[in-house]
Amino acid sequence: MLLELQEIHKSYKGGSGIFKNEMKPILKGVSLALREGECLGIVGESGSGKSTLGRIALGLEEADSGRVLFEGRRHDRASHQAISVVFQDYTSSVNPRFRVVEILSEGIRSTMRSSKERREYAKNLLEEVGLCEGILDRFPHQLSGGQLQRVCIARAISTKPRFILLDEAVSSLDVSVQVQVLELLKNLKEKYNLAYLFITHDLMSATFLCDRLLFFQEGRIAETLEDIRELGKIQNPYSRSLLEAVKALEVPHFC
Ligand SMILES: Nc1ncnc2c1ncn2[C@@H]1O[C@H](COP(=O)(O)OP(=O)(O)O)[C@@H](O)[C@H]1O
Ligand SMILES: [Mg+2]
Repeated sequence: MLLELQEIHKSYKGGSGIFKNEMKPILKGVSLALREGECLGIVGESGSGKSTLGRIALGLEEADSGRVLFEGRRHDRASHQAISVVFQDYTSSVNPRFRVVEILSEGIRSTMRSSKERREYAKNLLEEVGLCEGILDRFPHQLSGGQLQRVCIARAISTKPRFILLDEAVSSLDVSVQVQVLELLKNLKEKYNLAYLFITHDLMSATFLCDRLLFFQEGRIAETLEDIRELGKIQNPYSRSLLEAVKALEVPHFC
């Protein structure tokens, strides 16, 4: 197993007024495992604890109890090198004063000392994500949302990771652009045998990319779908309601 989460619990201080210091459980014993090269989707409504789970999986935040293992070990320097992340908010995840070439150099600066070499590498990264080298010297505000998210994906693969956490990575994009970025993610996954944890509130994008799905509800896994082709067989009323919502959009390819 590449990544394992075992019985993760997490609470935050929540509530209001006289309850403001009470702890509110957000994750209530979540376990999951991700194999090399696979895409596991976590689908659930907003506020159900998905991003919290993602931060804990990355080692950005500690769980109250439970264990996170990357290749059987707790997070360390080696695991951090093998892990990347793409968030929903591409505008705030890049430095607005950096040019594209600098954004793409962030992760490789320590290993690639010459700026000429980094520029060459950045060019190749842009090609990998379907952008032309003409944008190397542009600033983020000179790019479209789709272009900027592609730059973030290029930055994520720049360190040659084995695992990428995608937290609502396409959710802010227009639907037509979403499909293109999902295609890109699928191609990169196959080309580099990447494993993804694809966190989303949108079942449709998850079915496009994922091999397996976990339906997440109020900090718990409500249902597990081991094979995406069996989407029609899901039982749990909550997961079904998400599916019905997608069906209502009358998208013929998987209904
Ligand atoms: N750092 C934090 N401090 C306090 N509460 C938080 C914090 N992060 C998230 N929460 C709360 O945890 C719940 C789950 O949030 P989140 O993990 O972002 O859910 P999702 O990504 O599924 O929308 C929300 O009620 C949110 O307000
Ligand atoms: Mg979230």
